[in-house]
Order: sequence, then structure tokens, then C-alpha cells
Amino acid sequence: MNSTLVICKPDAVERALVGEIVGRLERKGLKIIRLELRRIDVGTAKIHYQEHANRPFFAELVEFITRSPSVIMEVSGPEDTWAIVRTLMGATDPAKAAPGTIRGDLGVSVAENLVHGSDSAEAAIRELNIFFRESI
Ligand code: RTP
Ligand code: MG
Repeated sequence: MNSTLVICKPDAVERALVGEIVGRLERKGLKIIRLELRRIDVGTAKIHYQEHANRPFFAELVEFITRSPSVIMEVSGPEDTWAIVRTLMGATDPAKAAPGTIRGDLGVSVAENLVHGSDSAEAAIRELNIFFRESI
């Protein structure tokens, strides 16, 4: 799978870090195939994060991701582009994310960790279908 879903989450848009994040993806050599500013609705958020439906932070996660617009992107590159994006993102908890990564350099909060990236080839297909259904 050479395409993956990347989301600049509401905190990234609110903090005006979209250019910084998109710039890092572009400088790495990845291509932005689709890009849309969109406020994610609650139903879409619940489907997107369905693997976490039983976790204690699920309600907070849905509330956060829907609170203001996100920038939703299809990003392409070599095979397994999703893995390249995950490396650029850094660990889920910005306190543990390495310097040089998006989360390591720009964030402090696990709940507001700036970016989403699909975590497998299967997830990339599933998530691109959720957000860009008409065009996959
Ligand atoms: P994402 O799906 O947003 O790209 O993040 P991820 O793969 O790095 O992390 P994941 O395990 O999929 O968790 C999804 C989001 O849930 C929030 N979270 N909070 N309070 C907590 O312990 C906790 N754990 C996860 C994070 O905002 C994470 O991005
Ligand atoms: Mg995840």
C-alpha cells in the first residue's frame, strides 16, 4: 500500500502547525495526493477510532477530534508509506516521542498529539475509505 491517511488534528490546526507538519512530510519526499480542511463529525470519528471504543479515553478522544476542523490528507510514496509517516510522527505520548519527530518536537499532551497516521497497510485502506470514500 503506497498511500496512507494522515490527519492534522484540531490542536495542530488551532496552533497553526499545519504548514510545519505538511512541510515535514513533503521534505521527507512524500506526496500530498488529497488535502481537505474538514470538521470530523461524531459518527465518522467513532467509526475511525472504533478499535478504541471500550477504552476509558474514548469519549474524550471523540470529543477532541470533533471539536474544530482537522486537515485530512492522503499521502503517497513508496510501498508502506504508512510506516514512514509513523516514524515521522513519533510515539503516541509526546513525552516519550523522540526529538526530531512531529510529536517529539511540537507536543506535550497524549490527548492532543497533533497528528494521526494509519498504523498498517490494512488500516490505511480502511481509513482512506472512511474519509475519501467516493474516490478510492
Ligand atoms: P492515532 O491513532 O491518533 O494516530 O494515534 P496512535 O496510533 O499513536 O495511538 P492509538 O493507540 O491509536 O490511540 C489513539 C489516540 O487515543 C489517545 N490516547 N489516549 N490517555 C491515554 O492513555 C491515551 N492513549 C491513547 C491518543 O490521543 C492517541 O493518539
Ligand atoms: Mg492509532
